[in-house]
Amino acid sequence: MTKKNSVFIATSIDGYIADKNGGIDWLHSIPNPEKDDMGYMEFIENIDALVMGRKTFETVCGFEIDWPYTKPVFVLSNSLKEIPEKYLGKVFLINGPLVEVLKQIHSKGHGRLYIDGGTTIQQFLKEDLIDEMIITSIPIILGGGAPLFSKIPKELAFELIKSTVFLGQITQNHFRRKRK
Ligand SMILES: NC(=O)c1ccc[n+]([C@@H]2O[C@H](COP(=O)([O-])OP(=O)(O)OC[C@H]3O[C@@H](n4cnc5c(N)ncnc54)[C@H](OP(=O)(O)O)[C@@H]3O)[C@@H](O)[C@H]2O)c1
Repeated sequence: MTKKNSVFIATSIDGYIADKNGGIDWLHSIPNPEKDDMGYMEFIENIDALVMGRKTFETVCGFEIDWPYTKPVFVLSNSLKEIPEKYLGKVFLINGPLVEVLKQIHSKGHGRLYIDGGTTIQQFLKEDLIDEMIITSIPIILGGGAPLFSKIPKELAFELIKSTVFLGQITQNHFRRKRK
């Protein structure tokens, strides 16, 4: 089983994933008349499951659309006690040390994981558990909000494997963790 932890996320120029009010409308600030998904579908087809923080889960639940994922979603939370009934069978609560969390998910046959949510990604990075990051940069400075990155105990080298410009405005960099 291939085991890989991947990030696919959009940030502002100043590195935020949500604005000061938790909003993400700015993600759509560049006109996209042909609805270019900027590689999202291709990415999602190549993962087995998602691991997301409780706050990102609640954001997705708030969208006025049908549940958007066809793969199992593992929600990290110490405060949520149960998953709303309509998500049963699709969404699973999980917590504990990340290494144990990963063992549990792997034991269910899911190796290629999409890690989502700022705090969640930061915790994975603290333990050097991220293997690749696809970061899409929207040309806006938000000046505050939920950051993608935080302090971590040691430097982590990545190599750039692809860089693409979408809509003449949005850069997307695909980085792979460079382990010796
Ligand atoms: N720009 C983008 O592409 C993008 C993508 C995703 C999300 N977002 C936005 O980012 C915001 C959410 O990000 P965020 O950094 O605030 O939070 P997040 O990572 O989505 O959620 C944080 C929460 O996850 C839980 N958690 C994380 N690690 C855990 C662990 N090891 N064990 C147990 N629980 C754990 C905790 O929940 P409890 O407090 O319940 O314990 C924590 O408060 C939302 O506004 C969302 O819309 C933007």
